[in-house]
Amino acid sequence: MAQTWTPNSWRQKPIQQVPDYPDLAALAATEAKLAKYPPLVFAGEARRLKSALANVAEGRGFLLQGGDCAESFAEHGADTIRDFFRAFLQMAVVLTFGAQQPVVKVGRIAGQFAKPRSSNIEKQGDVELPSYRGDIINGIEFTEEDRVPNPERQIMAYRQSAATLNLLRAFAMGGYANLDNVHQWMLGFVKDSPQAERYRKLADRISETMDFMKAIGITSENHPSLRETDFFTSHEALLLGYEQALTRVDSTSGDWYATSGHMIWIGDRTRQPDHAHIEYCRGIKNPLGLKCGPSLTADGLLELIDLLNPANEAGRLTLICRFGHDKVAEHLPRLIRAVEREGKKVVWSCDPMHGNTITLNNYKTRPFERILSEVESFFQIHRAEGSHPGGIHIEMTGNDVTECTGGARALSGDDLADRYHTHCDPRLNADQALELAFLLAERMKGGRDEKRLVVNG
Ligand code: PEP
Ligand code: CO
Repeated sequence: MAQTWTPNSWRQKPIQQVPDYPDLAALAATEAKLAKYPPLVFAGEARRLKSALANVAEGRGFLLQGGDCAESFAEHGADTIRDFFRAFLQMAVVLTFGAQQPVVKVGRIAGQFAKPRSSNIEKQGDVELPSYRGDIINGIEFTEEDRVPNPERQIMAYRQSAATLNLLRAFAMGGYANLDNVHQWMLGFVKDSPQAERYRKLADRISETMDFMKAIGITSENHPSLRETDFFTSHEALLLGYEQALTRVDSTSGDWYATSGHMIWIGDRTRQPDHAHIEYCRGIKNPLGLKCGPSLTADGLLELIDLLNPANEAGRLTLICRFGHDKVAEHLPRLIRAVEREGKKVVWSCDPMHGNTITLNNYKTRPFERILSEVESFFQIHRAEGSHPGGIHIEMTGNDVTECTGGARALSGDDLADRYHTHCDPRLNADQALELAFLLAERMKGGRDEKRLVVNG
């Protein structure tokens, strides 16, 4: 029998990746303050996301999850949020067409602040300071003042999340996300792309479909689903004191929910079954993500599935696989087979970012070809195993940054210095993110044509 869960039962467990706050009384005071603040999201919304993900788990949908590696206080502004949303919606339309299935849209946004680090300390010359752990914990400048964890930052992160979510809700429901708009933006992207010829075919087919819908009277005036969109938020539930303060009972069901975001996930470094992060996550009812890296064994995964989803509820658990382009073929099949053998209901998603990070000219970067290659292998392996490749999880921005190499504009190692703005890992820029969507949509369509050929003999 699992022991009794409470929002603070994680405090009795061993824990990884905790910041060293010098003033514990100030930390407790901040957490008490946050516990009185309004929830950022509602339980009913988290349930709606869970049922959308249940469809994905059953093979009837696709999950698009993406956004910053780490949101920052410095980049907070309406333009950044708008440009991200614009790129993300275009990806969603392209993927909807490619998959011929509903795309569930989940941003890494409005709460994605805390970062796990491989070392507690950063050393520059003779000076040692605590590593940067994300703006919710400390500052990125290599100064004592910035690097010492400061609880006040949690209040800032909460407020930034609220403001971001407010704007996203307005964009999603207020007409900005109208399919006609998204379609026009997408045509603009294709026109300007060095790969225009390649993407135009698919774009033309989307245009024809839209014209056909208009001709038979389906327009955004008479169909709200064409002018509004469902958009959900997610982040890594790393800073558990903050998460606990925003954990609330849902008055409708009497269940506990994390109200810091619709979906939260557990990172690859904090998924020890008897540790604090798993303990916290098992008790809340939100949809959960679990990062699966090369060190996860099949038995280890099954143990975690039983802890996090004992009722085997579809939509509760998304396995976010992040092996690396050269390791996915070694690790993914064994996990799929174990999950299938035990009849566990999960969404399989591919994070092609975190296993493909390299250093070039002193910058952390990710080659676009490797990102694409990991997603392609993910699709092929699922096809071969007869399981559903249910989604992708990417780090991206709507801005024109130079953080990942490659793509249609062939960014090189020498270009990285131009606009390298990320606070943590390198993100796809808007063009690279859309290219990835086009290339995947092409392949999804290819896969369906192949299936049809087999069915029709
Ligand atoms: C992340 O998603 O930014 C991250 C740290 O991932 P992982 O836990 O997979 O390393
Ligand atoms: Co990252």
